[in-house]
Amino acid sequence: MSLAGLRVVVSAGPTYEDLDPVRFIGNRSSGKMGFAVAAAAARRGARTVLIAGPVHLPTPDGVERIDVRSAAQMHDAVLRALPADVYVGAAAVADFTPENIASSKIKKTAGQDALVLRLVRTPDILADVARDARRPRCVVGFAAETDDVAHYARGKLEKKNIDMIAANRVGVAGSGFESDDNALNVYWRENNDAVGERALGPAPKTTLADALMDLIEERLHA
Ligand code: CTP
Repeated sequence: MSLAGLRVVVSAGPTYEDLDPVRFIGNRSSGKMGFAVAAAAARRGARTVLIAGPVHLPTPDGVERIDVRSAAQMHDAVLRALPADVYVGAAAVADFTPENIASSKIKKTAGQDALVLRLVRTPDILADVARDARRPRCVVGFAAETDDVAHYARGKLEKKNIDMIAANRVGVAGSGFESDDNALNVYWRENNDAVGERALGPAPKTTLADALMDLIEERLHA
């Protein structure tokens, strides 16, 4: 029970951004990685809150789950769940959302050959958690990178002022979205401002979640 007495907040899954009462913009995140992280935290004795986008996954034992749909709802739920000792942002949050949600179904008209949607930026949950007065001691982000993994991941550590980032090695066979396996490159800030690095996997997401929690515990004790 190495996290006994600590509070861990995890976000997981996709967000759905509604266009009208029947349509939305979503993504292929399964939520499995974030659910595995929440399960690992709870097994270690942390009071664990899981903010879940729309997924069909059972709630891990000992985890308090709050279901949300949109990026805006996830933002509110995560900030309401603070203060916490650790925040892990494993959700695939939409970066853009429709400027307006139509109150009735959008109809096509005769001769219409295109539909233009205007999307606006969503709030950056991870960055807002990192700049909050109740900032957790350890703020962890995820990133999906196809090229220059180290360069972009290190850049996000700085830009979002977070303590650790787990970059999905997109393109590794059988890993990533919708898969039970994944491969991560994890980067973290050392006390002397150096950047630590470890490659995890390819391995089942449950195994990776435990390895990531080991790294988070090391940072909490550093
Ligand atoms: N994130 C967030 N709120 C958003 C968007 C992303 O909290 N509105 C978090 C995700 O939960 C994840 C991390 O930010 O932890 C991903 O960072 P982001 O810069 O969005 O990554 P990419 O989508 O990979 O970025 P880019 O578009 O720069 O490739």
